[in-house]
Amino acid sequence: MTPRVFSGIQPTGELTLGTYLGALQRFVRDQTTTRSVFCVVDLHAITVPQDPGQLAQRTLDTAALYLACGIDPATSTLFVQSHVPEHSQLAWLLECTVSFGELSRMTQFKEKSDRQQFVSAGLFTYPALMAADILLYDTDRVPVGDDQRQHLELTRDVAERFNHRHGDTFVVPTADISAVGARVMDLQDPTRKMSKSVDSPQGTVLMLDEPAVIVRKFKRAVTDNDGEVRFDPATKPGVSNLLSILAAATDTTPEALEGQYQQYGPLKADTAEAVVARLAPIQARYREWTADPTALRALLVQGAEQAHAVASATLARAQQSLGLG
Ligand code: TYM
Repeated sequence: MTPRVFSGIQPTGELTLGTYLGALQRFVRDQTTTRSVFCVVDLHAITVPQDPGQLAQRTLDTAALYLACGIDPATSTLFVQSHVPEHSQLAWLLECTVSFGELSRMTQFKEKSDRQQFVSAGLFTYPALMAADILLYDTDRVPVGDDQRQHLELTRDVAERFNHRHGDTFVVPTADISAVGARVMDLQDPTRKMSKSVDSPQGTVLMLDEPAVIVRKFKRAVTDNDGEVRFDPATKPGVSNLLSILAAATDTTPEALEGQYQQYGPLKADTAEAVVARLAPIQARYREWTADPTALRALLVQGAEQAHAVASATLARAQQSLGLG
């Protein structure tokens, strides 16, 4: 049977090279051989404060980026999470299936709550909503970056527990984390993940950065002093990050690349060039999509209808399993 794929991206801030290499690039590759469903997860975004106008705009922009990367609405379903109410409805059922202790152990919650003055209950129960996203579509495989690994493990545990308690209801999904590009690090602090929510403008390459800006950021990337190009993330995080990025952007492995460079300068220049080559056509298509918000909105309405058809059947099954309705 054709494997079913689901993944989501938050419409918070501008998307980074990490989101592209760890997620988007892989979504596009797989869509012809899978039944893929992709989502702009705006409900996850409101677990921390958002400006309403900005959130609405970023939701549309994120959808445009999916399309610009090559997600084909004729093959894949693309929609906005809040347009399909079953996500919130199933999330509640799963909040009653997951334990307080399990949610307390989520490292993303610990990190994110440390950065908030007001820690919403939604930030705490975030993984239950994420599990709902995935389970609603009978998902087999979830392509994500390494930072989502723990959430995926919890999703599996919750699905298995629900099935055990209430009878077979959900497909138990597996995380699909690539060997290369699943952990793109900050160029200024390569021991920290490149992230749209951390303030490090020089260390973060944005998908919509001008080519000259991308080149400058790579030129200034932090490396080390021993001058040896070797893939060893523990002792050489900066150089290893560059090798990983170059590998992910040219479809090879860091190990295959390390012997080709004697100096950091050419490695930085080639990495920048490879990234620009991947992002420039996406940026051009992005401008086309954002120039026509009416077409974009119409497409998202259609996507929500397709998603709703599947999601409503799964929700009904879960409700029935629980004796609701
Ligand atoms: P988000 O929006 O933070 O990131 C979207 C995707 O990009 C990946 N990613 C990275 N990969 C490699 N290196 C990086 N530096 C990097 N930064 C981001 C993320 O791993 C992710 O795959 N909770 C999710 C969104 C979500 C979701 C879901 C994902 C909600 N429901 C259901 C999958 C399935 C998140 O905040 O991703």
